[in-house]
Amino acid sequence: MGIIQTLHSYWAYLALVMLVVAVVNAIMGYFNSKPYIMGKDLRISLFALIFTHIQLLLGIVLYFTSERFSLWSELGPGGVMSNPLARLLLVEHPFTNILAIILITIGWSKHKKMESAKGKFGKIAFFYTLGLILILSRIPWDQWL
Ligand code: HEM
Repeated sequence: MGIIQTLHSYWAYLALVMLVVAVVNAIMGYFNSKPYIMGKDLRISLFALIFTHIQLLLGIVLYFTSERFSLWSELGPGGVMSNPLARLLLVEHPFTNILAIILITIGWSKHKKMESAKGKFGKIAFFYTLGLILILSRIPWDQWL
C-alpha cells in the first residue's frame, strides 16, 4: 500500500469520527434547544468540515496516483462500469464522497448565516447527516476494516 493510500485509509477513521460527533452534537443541540457556543459547537462543526476536506484532498491525490487508475485504460469506461469493484472504487466512492463534502460545505456556510442557535444546529444536523449517510453508503468496507 502506498503512503497516500495508507493516509487516506487511516485519516478516514478521524474524519468519520469527527463527522459523527458533529452530527450527534447538532441533533442534540437542536432537539434540546441548547445555546450555540462558539468555543464548543462552532469548533466541533469546523473540525468535521476540515477533517472531511483533508480526506477529500487525500482521495483526489490517491485517485490519480493509485494503480487502480490504470483500469480506466485497461478495461475502458464500459469495462470499469460493468466490474462492481472497479465501479465502486473509481466511480461510486469518489463521486458520492465529493457530493457528500459539497453538502457538508453548504451546511457549514448556511449555518453561519443563521441567527438563532436552533437554526444553526438545524443546518448542521440536516446537511452533515446527509453527507454522512452518503459517505457510509459507498465505503469499500471489504478492503478497509
Ligand atoms: C470523506 C470522504 C471519504 C472517506 C471517508 C473515504 C474513505 C475511504 C476508505 C475507508 C477506503 C478504503 C481503504 C483502502 O482501501 O485503502 C477508501 C478507498 C479509496 N478512496 Fe476514499 N474516502 C473518501 C473520499 C474519497 C474521494 C473524494 C476520493 C477520490 C476523488 C477517494 C478515492 C479513493 C480510492 C481511489 C480508493 C481505493 C484505493 C484502492 O484500493 O486502490 N476517496 N476511501
